[in-house]
Amino acid sequence: MHPRIRTIEEYHAAYQQSVEDPDGFWAAVAEPFTWRRKWDTVRSGEFSPAGNSKWFDGARLNITENCLDRHLAQRGNKLALIFEPNDPKVRHLRLTYRELHQQVCQFANVLRNNGVQKGDRVIIYLPMIPQLAVAVLACARVGAVHSVVFAGFSATAIADRTNDADARFVLTADGLNRGAKQIPVKSVVDEALESCPGVRRVIVVEHLGWPVTMREGRDVWYHDEVKDVALTCPAEEMAAEDPLFILYTSGSTGKPKGVVHSQAGYMVWADYTFRNVFQVEENDVYWCTADIGWVTGHSYLLYGPLLAGATSLQFEGVPTFPSPGRFWEVIDKHHVTIFYTAPTAIRSLMATPIDNVLSYSLTSLRVLGSVGEPINEEAWHWYHQHVGKGRCPIVDTWWQTETGGIMISALAGITPSVPARAGLPLPGVQPVLLNQDGTEIEGNDQEGYLAIKASWPGVIRTTWGDHERARQTYFQPYPGYYFTGDGARRDENGLYRIIGRVDDVINVSGHRFGTAEIENAINQSDYVVESAVVGYPHDVKGQGIYAYVICQNGLPTSDLEIQRAEASIIEAVVAEIGKIAKPDKIQLVSGLPKTRSGKIMRRILRKVAEGETSNLGDVTTLLDPLVVEEIVAGRK
Ligand code: WT7
Repeated sequence: MHPRIRTIEEYHAAYQQSVEDPDGFWAAVAEPFTWRRKWDTVRSGEFSPAGNSKWFDGARLNITENCLDRHLAQRGNKLALIFEPNDPKVRHLRLTYRELHQQVCQFANVLRNNGVQKGDRVIIYLPMIPQLAVAVLACARVGAVHSVVFAGFSATAIADRTNDADARFVLTADGLNRGAKQIPVKSVVDEALESCPGVRRVIVVEHLGWPVTMREGRDVWYHDEVKDVALTCPAEEMAAEDPLFILYTSGSTGKPKGVVHSQAGYMVWADYTFRNVFQVEENDVYWCTADIGWVTGHSYLLYGPLLAGATSLQFEGVPTFPSPGRFWEVIDKHHVTIFYTAPTAIRSLMATPIDNVLSYSLTSLRVLGSVGEPINEEAWHWYHQHVGKGRCPIVDTWWQTETGGIMISALAGITPSVPARAGLPLPGVQPVLLNQDGTEIEGNDQEGYLAIKASWPGVIRTTWGDHERARQTYFQPYPGYYFTGDGARRDENGLYRIIGRVDDVINVSGHRFGTAEIENAINQSDYVVESAVVGYPHDVKGQGIYAYVICQNGLPTSDLEIQRAEASIIEAVVAEIGKIAKPDKIQLVSGLPKTRSGKIMRRILRKVAEGETSNLGDVTTLLDPLVVEEIVAGRK
């Protein structure tokens, strides 16, 4: 077994070594993996000015040999994946490590037969079905760079990502289940690909048995392609710093950026953080409810658990179908021992009758996790008391798409787990709080911008096709540090509490959107001249999206006109991004509060959206202070 922390003393010792002797520390952690060749240097590169961290440079490996082949001798018959379908009446599927290995090899052979080569980018737009997990690993097996696009994103979003990644291959399905609904998928891809001339091949998995249009010469069915392919597939040998995947995420500018993670560093980080945070044991049944389309699904549904040889549950459905007891039913059914979900899911279930949870035993549970946004105290206590029955430690895990894996969190049952605190940093993570001018704030009971002082194996390597953007976003704001975009507080005991984003990023149900990104989408509507989007506190989603919009012909006067404008705005967002980014509130306005230099004063818009209209601060620098009165009066 790899180095594993089991006591608070071991945590402190590991932490200290990771700071004082990072090379020795990480060499020991990396030792037990399967390497085709060991590294020349453990760490190299720099945050500033180049932003070019490297880990285990010179090493050669394939991550799927570490996820699969390595386990065959000892764990060949152990369950790797349990797949629980959307509809509880449909039988679940279980795959042992041997079976998953076989399926990944077959899919990898299909990829190779269809021309996928090492380094090619492959867009994966698949619902949460077993073939999604298999497809991701198959890409890694042949050395292709996977870029999973969450299956709720729109055709435009797929097209943007496909073109940005210059992908020639797309993997998709006919349709998907989402609670009581069935939703077409292939037709969304078809629409997207009208603007992606570079795509040569689309491989379609049959899931719902729906009719789809197959374009001759471009589209093939997976079930046809997989006939007669071999059950084994030699893994491509990759360099440590070759890209493993691209995952698009939102920032403060309009266009989502392709976060790139590498092979070796990501592997070591996903594995180390998974085993230590959740304190995984051989017989655990681990369930992360995130979709593989997000980084949480990459690191903690797929790679982390498989690297550690654990049993990971993949759930196709939603928490409320067929009833708001579904999560708890699945936990009892599969004897889940470690459960990792998002505060928004907890809050939505808290709002339903308590019998939905009390009628399940939940005795198998041992560890609970939370991710994606700050968990409020009320939700923490409900989770602790009603799900964990007061006996399961909660790990509130802070991290980001860019960090590859968990950065600040309790280690279950070992380091302190306090409501509304992510807790202490993992070994290898050196968080600091910075002032606006970039000086470090020392001591406890302090608040500032959260930054990381030294490289760790999972750090973002670049933004696809535009390294300068990565450099400017993460490494240039405070030279020598990785800048997180979050504000944080270090409490009197040195535990970190994440306050939230300090940039123009909104966190809606644990999903990141840039305000500029949503504004760009809204502005696509014919009705719209200009818009400004802010976040506001939302009971279930954490933050809701509040849009202030100026319409083409001034303020609409009739209800019908208002409805039409709002419908058109929503339609534009759904088309540009997807349903997940729909504004919760739209306020049509005749003007926006702008300074004389034309800058929108978002501070005021945020206050109005939050309902704090009595204290708007200084409005004297505004071009037209009357606009503010109108906005306050028309608040939604
Ligand atoms: C942003 C990253 C990490 C995977 C899921 C989201 C917020 C994430 C926590 C937490 C408070 C959190 C931060 C961060 N966030 N986890 N435990 N407590 N805030 O990944 O989409 O890259 O978003 O989510 O604001 O910067 P992401």
